[in-house]
Amino acid sequence: MTVSDPVVEAVVATVSRSATEIRQGLVGRRGAVGEENPSGETQVEADIWADELLADRLSAIDGVSQYASEEREAVIDCAGSDGGGASAGNDGDNGDESAAPRDGYAVAVDPLDGSSNLTSNNAMGTIVGVYDAPLPARGEDLVAAAYVLYGPITTMLLATEDTVSEYELTGGERRLIREDVTLPEEPVVYGFGGRVPDWTDAFSEYAREIETELKLRYGGAMIGDVNQVLTYGGVFGYPGLKSRSEGKLRLQFEGNPVGYIVEQAGGRSSNGEQSLLTVEPTDDIHERTPVFVGNESLIDRLETHLS
Ligand code: AHG
Ligand code: MN
Ligand code: MN
Ligand code: MN
Repeated sequence: MTVSDPVVEAVVATVSRSATEIRQGLVGRRGAVGEENPSGETQVEADIWADELLADRLSAIDGVSQYASEEREAVIDCAGSDGGGASAGNDGDNGDESAAPRDGYAVAVDPLDGSSNLTSNNAMGTIVGVYDAPLPARGEDLVAAAYVLYGPITTMLLATEDTVSEYELTGGERRLIREDVTLPEEPVVYGFGGRVPDWTDAFSEYAREIETELKLRYGGAMIGDVNQVLTYGGVFGYPGLKSRSEGKLRLQFEGNPVGYIVEQAGGRSSNGEQSLLTVEPTDDIHERTPVFVGNESLIDRLETHLS
């Protein structure tokens, strides 16, 4: 099933084709490279390699006017219509950053979500948000969002303005396996990030309630944990912490795209107060936010606890 908008379809097809290559390219690229990304996190070789692969391919798509990623400082203004992509460069010194971004779509990417799971060989993901340019943008400016899950099987969850679909990715092709994906009514699983002593009292109260009702599923890669929630129903959260009230996850690259997918699947998202998609972004493309996604009732209860 293809997406009606040809530019969005080109982005989705490029990501699903690249996913097979990314999965195969993880072998031998597990080592830390001794550099930090703009969020101050240690980068592994696969973080940078996947980012460069996706930057080259996505920025070459006609209609994509900006490329941004968790792994590079600046938003790249793509050459777009004349097809010259931003050639790889990890510090965003390619492409013409000075020109005001043209109309078209801006693609925000988390090339490898949960890359610390490479060392322990656990699930990871790739997250892509397709926004009406320019970035930074509100989640409401998303026209599509997708994530690839590198699990036992490589799958993609794709949300457009119409529906949420699940695909199996094999040999560069995407095969539709589930249409109209919706969050199950009855919640079953939960997963909360951050260290328990670093949780605020209000969040701890909420977590203590949820722990008596649901089963713990926390694997250290948001995409793996969110896929559990989308499959079984429940809640995933990475709360604001005592040590860092904005939490860990990035609004543009993680919170908005995943919030969009879960809301399109009939659930809710929140930063603790409001839908992530309504959060007015700052001009920091790497800004962090508390992230909660899952069944509406569970998110409503969370906001009551935190209010
Ligand atoms: P990334 O690898 O893209 O930086 O994302 C890691 C994030 C997210 O995937 C996950 O939910 C969270 O970090 C896990 O954080 P902790 O290690 O603090 O649990
Ligand atoms: Mn990271
Ligand atoms: Mn991530
Ligand atoms: Mn990442």
